Amino acid sequence: MISIKNVWKSFGDNEVLKGLDLHIPRGETLVVMGRSGCGKSVLLKLITGLMKPDKGEIWFDNIEISKLKLKDFNQIRRRIGMLFQSSALFDSMTVEENVGFMLGQHTKLSKREIQELVAEKLNLVDLDDTQHLKPAELSGGMRKRVGLARAIAFNPEVILYDEPTTGLDPITCAEINKLIRNLHQKLKVTSVVVTHDMDSAFFVATHIAMIHDGRIVFNGTPNEVGKTGHPILHQFISGSSNSALGVHNR
Ligand SMILES: Nc1ncnc2c1ncn2[C@@H]1O[C@H](COP(=O)(O)OP(=O)(O)OP(=O)(O)O)[C@@H](O)[C@H]1O
Ligand SMILES: [Mg+2]
Repeated sequence: MISIKNVWKSFGDNEVLKGLDLHIPRGETLVVMGRSGCGKSVLLKLITGLMKPDKGEIWFDNIEISKLKLKDFNQIRRRIGMLFQSSALFDSMTVEENVGFMLGQHTKLSKREIQELVAEKLNLVDLDDTQHLKPAELSGGMRKRVGLARAIAFNPEVILYDEPTTGLDPITCAEINKLIRNLHQKLKVTSVVVTHDMDSAFFVATHIAMIHDGRIVFNGTPNEVGKTGHPILHQFISGSSNSALGVHNR
């Protein structure tokens, strides 16, 4: 579904990605881990085309998106939903306007049709009857879910989640994790989830990859993570949580 081949990305003399290779088959939920600043958000932005690589190729379903012109890109972008690290909602708009915004901009659907689609998406993220609220009236977990409803507005084939549970309490975290898993099952999407939270990683992942020093240093199933002797991965996991390895393999 997504192939990243020898991708390089620098900002000035800050070399972030240094020949990163990653292949994400259709239907997989890949969790991407790595130290703060290692390039996880950059990787997601490259996949959505919000950034271009300096070198290398990014393929989405047999289309090389790293070479597309902006106008052709809009077509692809609908097929990829992104939940941003900050949720990135418009504060002045209601929940309904936030979720339906891109539908209004990029389709010829009537107001009524958009309202119906928005209600359907809000139902999928367990936020019925919140259409008229403003972001300031929502809890952090609700804001994430509005962001997620907006990310799935176009029925994307791929959903990218940038730290979907960071800053949420453990119960809300667990709700978001369940939602990620449910959406994966209901919508049959391919997902990429960036997270520092080991419990989340083991709960949602079919595969777990780790970025270190600009490359993928590990990519395997949660089970393989438990068995690996990979020193960097091991250090990362034991530094984050003592329980993650034993308890959450599924
Ligand atoms: N638009 C940009 N301009 C300049 N530097 C950038 C830009 N975007 C990212 N960077 C740099 O690239 C590096 C990777 O950033 P990125 O946001 O991908 O980190 P991350 O792995 O998502 O970290 P975190 O876990 O803290 O979110 C950082 O050093 C960051 O400062
Ligand atoms: Mg980030």
